[in-house]
Amino acid sequence: MGDKQKVLFVCLGNICRSPAAEGVLKKKLAEKGLDGRIVVDSAGTMGYHVGEAPDQRMRAAAARRGYDLCSRARVFAPSDFDEFDLIIAMDQNNLRDLRDLDPGSRYRRKLRLLCDFLPGSRLRDVPDPYYGGPEGFERVLDMLERAAEGIVAQLADGVSA
Ligand code: 4NP
Repeated sequence: MGDKQKVLFVCLGNICRSPAAEGVLKKKLAEKGLDGRIVVDSAGTMGYHVGEAPDQRMRAAAARRGYDLCSRARVFAPSDFDEFDLIIAMDQNNLRDLRDLDPGSRYRRKLRLLCDFLPGSRLRDVPDPYYGGPEGFERVLDMLERAAEGIVAQLADGVSA
């Protein structure tokens, strides 16, 4: 492990939920002066949208809250298991797909659900907004903003360790 903590968000297409998570966390880290110490990236478990910018509906919803989403979609690569310290899946299907790529459970301790960072919530999934209406994108952003504090705290612990 280098001196920077590295966190990767993973969803299905890497054009809605995980790019938004990346954008929200980057802004929170910058506000706390931690952006130079922590690398944030995102990836998808499928490749239909590789190379694309985030979904325009998500870009617009995020921009209204002050987040600039500028990633390009890529597929999760097995080398990401070594590259990243913390890998956060948006839903249980994403987590299952990641575990399938790690049959020996070598990287199990790095894997989390985004909802693990929502204190007091019994939710397990960040709902996929792709086929729904505009409220779905707002809901995703609400969840990501609520989770960001706990993610920053976990990463900051790692930075000072
Ligand atoms: P994401 O949303 O996993 O949050 O990026 C989706 C994007 C595209 C598709 C499904 C979900 N798709 O089926 O193309």
